[in-house]
This record gives sequence, C-alpha cells and structure tokens, in this order.
Amino acid sequence: MTISRRKLLGTAAVAAAAARVVKAAPATARPVAVSSANGLRAVERAVKGMMGGEDPLDSAIAGVNIVEDDPTDMTVGYGGIPNEEGVVQLDACVMHGPTARAGAVASLEGVKNPTRVAKLVMETTDHILLVGPGARHFATVNGFANENLLTEKARKVWLFWKQNLSDNDKWLEPDPAHYDPDVKAFIEENGWDDLRKPKSGGTIHLSAVNARGDLAGCTSTSGLFFKMPGRVGDSPIIGAGCFTDNDVGSAGSTGRGEANILVSGGHLTVEFMRQGKHPRDACLMTLERIARTTREKRLLNVAGRPNFGIRFYAVNKAGQYGGASMYSHNSTGKRRQFAVADSSGARMEDAAFLFEGRM
Ligand code: GLY
Repeated sequence: MTISRRKLLGTAAVAAAAARVVKAAPATARPVAVSSANGLRAVERAVKGMMGGEDPLDSAIAGVNIVEDDPTDMTVGYGGIPNEEGVVQLDACVMHGPTARAGAVASLEGVKNPTRVAKLVMETTDHILLVGPGARHFATVNGFANENLLTEKARKVWLFWKQNLSDNDKWLEPDPAHYDPDVKAFIEENGWDDLRKPKSGGTIHLSAVNARGDLAGCTSTSGLFFKMPGRVGDSPIIGAGCFTDNDVGSAGSTGRGEANILVSGGHLTVEFMRQGKHPRDACLMTLERIARTTREKRLLNVAGRPNFGIRFYAVNKAGQYGGASMYSHNSTGKRRQFAVADSSGARMEDAAFLFEGRM
C-alpha cells in the first residue's frame, strides 16, 4: 500500500504549522547542542564544554558519556537491553566537522562508552568502522577493560521476554499476579501491550556547534531490544545515525534504524539543510522520505503509515536547530520532545511531527 502525495502533504502541513511556533535560534545563541529527549544532561555538558573552549566533538562525547554511564537509561551503554542471547552489544559513531573525519564501532561488548572507542578508531586508524570481536580487540589494546554491562534489571527484563516468547518452548510464562516489580515498571514505562512484540525505544544522538561555527555529532545505542546477535542498526553508520558537514550542519537519528539506513537519513537531513532548509524542516523532510518509501505491509498500519517510531535532530552552522518525530506522541501518550542547550541553558522542546498519534 502506498501513501498518497495528498495525504502526506496534508500531514506535513500540520507538522509545519506546529513547527512554525518553534523560534529559530539566532546565530548569537551559539554554542548549541541538540539531542534526543534522553540527552538533557548531555546537551548541558556539551555546551558547557564548548563555552570553555573544548573541541565540539570532545564536548559531544563527554555529554553522551553521561547517558552511557547511566544504568537507568536502558537503551544506551551500561544497563542497555541485551540481544536475544542476553548479551549487551553496543553501536556508536562520532563525526568531527573541522577535520571531516569519522569513527565508529558496532556490536561492541564490554565497554560502557563505545563513543570513546569510536573516537579512537577515527584518530588512530585508517578505518572508519570496526565491528564485533575486532572492535573488542581494538578496545582491549587501547586499555578498555572488559566490563559486565548487563544490569540485574536488564537481565530480568530479558528473561521475562524469553519466558513469554512462545507457548511451544520449555519456558513457562510468569504468572501476571507475581510479575517482578522491576519488570512490571519497565513494561508500563515502555507501553508494552503485547509481550511477544515488545516495543523498542531509545538511543542518544547529539549534534553540536561551537561559537565559531565548528560542528560535531555522535550517536550511541544498545540497539533494538532483543535484536539478533550481530545486528547492526543505523547508529554506527556514518550518513545514517549521524552525519556532520562543517560547511552546513550536523544531524542524527533515534528510532527504527533499519528505516533510517534505507534513506541514509543523517546525510539526507544535512543535504536538505545545504539546500537552505531550516534544521527542523530538514528533519521533517527526511521523515517524509521514510514514510513515502516504507512499502512493506508488515511495516505499515491500517492508515498506510509507518508502524514504527523514528526521530531526527539537527543543528546548522548558524546555530539554528530542530527535532522532528514520525509521530507526535510516544507509546505511553507523552508528547515527543528533544533536548537543546545554548548559552541561555538547557531545556526540552516539543518536536515537530509528521503524523498525529502515538508510537
Ligand atoms: N536507532 C537505533 C537502532 O536502530 O539500533
């Protein structure tokens, strides 16, 4: 089923109207950092660093490290939800505007801060992306210990998922009257209505521009909940999970990585900004491209719209910024927002959106 041009334009017009109320940042607001909603402390740290003269990529990474270290964010770094075998595998990338260099790691095990390893790939190798055991070996020789990233809460959530997966295996479904309180809280927080098809969410992307107009971006994630071992999402793919061009701007994404990879969404968003689009409108146009090119029936709802969540964040060289989401609200009914910080402080702002609804 395809989405008619008319339907898309209608919803895009609604989104554009919602977006118009967001005031564009004047150039004097630089430095600016923009991130996914879980990055309020990260953008605050990033701007503080840039105000102190730190390189924008160092500031971006230091901000993202706060979220990677936090076990209560179960979509990034330490405490992330594991793959289907119960193993935490992390993806991350960094991109540095002034030098036009990038580094990334995928399916990395045992390191809380994959963004720090990604930066070392960028700085100390001739490569861009290291994966799996190769990434782990690279981290080890660079002095990163092999830590257990699986917290008790994440282990319990994973085991609960496994126990509920099928009536035809040897695992018995837990009694709903005696669900573990941690697991119960996690189900509610994530709006799971079907335990066999749990909703997946999270990841952090952060893009930054300093007072001189130099840009950087970085993205970090534990990936889709219960993914297949070795599955790599968009986050470590330069041009998808993140892209930075020092002449134009920086952009990145959170949400269904497979959808983003198919349109090279980070790069596409930067290209829309290069054409003169405001960062918010550039994010919306990338979402529109995803909606238009999502054709598999299993990925569409009854209205013919994507049945998954995905979001983009962008900042341009002048310090204008924006964030946009495929849907206006998350699965628990909370308005989709993004985090931003500039010289006047850190705050949450409502994201523009392509479609009204929950996802
Ligand atoms: N966007 C994160 C992922 O799909 O892994």
